[in-house]
Amino acid sequence: MRRLKLIGIGAGNPDYITMQAVNALKQVDVIFVTDKGEDTADLVRARKELCERYMQAKPHRIVEIKDPRRDRSSGGSGGSGGSSSSGSLGAYRSAVATWHEERAALYEQVIREQLSENECGAFLVWGDPSLYDSALRIIGQVAALKTMEFEWEIIPGITSIQALAARHRISLNEIGAPIHITTGRRLRDEQSANGIADGINVLVLLDGNCAFNELAEDDIDIYWGAYLGTPDEILLSGKLEELRERIGEVRASARNQKGWIMDTYLLRKRGAAS
Ligand SMILES: C[S@@+](CC[C@H](N)C(=O)[O-])C[C@H]1O[C@@H](n2cnc3c(N)ncnc32)[C@H](O)[C@@H]1O
Repeated sequence: MRRLKLIGIGAGNPDYITMQAVNALKQVDVIFVTDKGEDTADLVRARKELCERYMQAKPHRIVEIKDPRRDRSSGGSGGSGGSSSSGSLGAYRSAVATWHEERAALYEQVIREQLSENECGAFLVWGDPSLYDSALRIIGQVAALKTMEFEWEIIPGITSIQALAARHRISLNEIGAPIHITTGRRLRDEQSANGIADGINVLVLLDGNCAFNELAEDDIDIYWGAYLGTPDEILLSGKLEELRERIGEVRASARNQKGWIMDTYLLRKRGAAS
């Protein structure tokens, strides 16, 4: 039977990969590399370098899948993954659902044609497959089509939020308190009206538009990180009202220089013990 592995490769540093992932890579015959048009050449290259480093002599084939473009006209995002304030969340979700269906059909075809019976294939997922990544859903949809039999498993990886916490040497949560993980779009829509609740740390991913600028409160600390785990990593932390402008400038300049940026941040009310 065909086997598929969704392997979390960690969010930046090649050393973030787990031994379980390295051992899984040694069984793989075909690496499926997806190009969503959002992933930069740098990220595709990072995946290929991981294969060279960890698969060593294991012969394998690399099969590229060119993802269909997502329709961004209805509620589409201005940055990666739904960070625009324009368009309703419903329209955005519906555009993403249609895009996922198209991708599932394409992935099904590529897997069926490129992975032989008894071979093992893998998708290398940035960070961890369970956090803001569509590979898991899409492979689930491919399995539901029941056009071919395959086994599939998920190998967890280190997420960008774990990398952020480690690099800033902070806990993700206050003592015994919940954390809230969200996108720039939702921070803009929800927290800007309600503010950040006492004791709840808010983690923001997929923010192409510095949504923290919408927060009016003056008692919030921010822990911001870009290109975490890579040689280009940038870390800034302190009072949001003092740092927001600087983060905006640093972010814009880094993005201009490299042509892309991935950043994540944690927001918390000042004075709460961690
Ligand atoms: C599509 S999500 C993927 C998240 C990923 N699955 C994970 O486990 O972190 C992409 C977002 O993750 C965050 N991200 C991923 N890698 C990052 C890195 N090395 N540094 C900072 N943020 C990162 C950014 O917020 C980016 O917009």
